[in-house]
Amino acid sequence: MNAQSQLVVIARVLLPAGLDRLRERFEVKVGGLEATWDDVLANAPGASAFVADPSIPVNAELLDACGGLLQVVANFAVGYDNVDVEACRERGVIVTNTPDVLTEATAELALALTLAAARRMSDAERDLRAGRWSGWDPAAYRGIEIWGATVGVVGMGRIGRRYGRLAHGLGARIVYASQSAKPEAESELGAERLELPELLEAADVVSLHAPAKPETHGLIGPKELELIGPDGVLVNTSRGPLVDSEAVAAALESGSLGAAGLDVYENEPEVSPRLLEAPRCVLLPHIGSATVQARDGMASAVADNVIAVLEGRDPPSRVA
Ligand code: 8YV
Repeated sequence: MNAQSQLVVIARVLLPAGLDRLRERFEVKVGGLEATWDDVLANAPGASAFVADPSIPVNAELLDACGGLLQVVANFAVGYDNVDVEACRERGVIVTNTPDVLTEATAELALALTLAAARRMSDAERDLRAGRWSGWDPAAYRGIEIWGATVGVVGMGRIGRRYGRLAHGLGARIVYASQSAKPEAESELGAERLELPELLEAADVVSLHAPAKPETHGLIGPKELELIGPDGVLVNTSRGPLVDSEAVAAALESGSLGAAGLDVYENEPEVSPRLLEAPRCVLLPHIGSATVQARDGMASAVADNVIAVLEGRDPPSRVA
């Protein structure tokens, strides 16, 4: 089949940094930001490549709707928990993601959330905007400093390590929990590997950088929040299902958790109403990789992966 007759289906959207290169080579169908699940299924037939993002569950139904020409699912994200990898394997379909290009952006956002939550910025700004600032008060909005704090990194992969480096640069002691030891992080950052419960107890700040998998589902629930404690800060820029949002809201309300900074949620774009009202809580709408550099890099990586597979080469970032 010649390239021009190969169809690339984009479930929702792809930025020009990737889209333009695909359009030069292939026929491209774009679902649009408002595409419903029915639209996604209706656009799928005949796809040689399917471009998804974490809001699109790439399951057996969708793969079957694509049909037998499908060669690659290119996910516009580093995380690919939305893709049924086994169903892809069974159908001989390659799966790719977009690592590296978003490492800095996501680590920097995790640091921003760390500082914002640790310094009570959300409550302070909300009060100021609502006209509730009645003057300087030495006891108001007291948070913690990262200098001298113990920062716990859960998941010492690319993003976790970069975040650890940033926090270390601010003078934090780094501890981490990870499936395997990370000798480079230990020598570079003096990071100490702990079991998760020990880390939760030792750390002033706990930042999550592990992927969503059955083993990490509900990793942080009521018991774990108690270990983080009334002076501790929880930050999540990884995936929502790692954290029980209702338990976080309850712990913030009762004061048994110090503060939280969250960028991801269990059922995006829904956010627990209780969490929206909770004190000492900074909430962002999944913008970890939302920088010009990262998002253009991700779009370009999607194009690199699709072009490689459809031209019969190994894609640069294959995960299955
Ligand atoms: C993306 C992400 O912005 O890469 C990931 O895994 O969560 C974010 O960087 C988001 O998935 C939208 O594509």
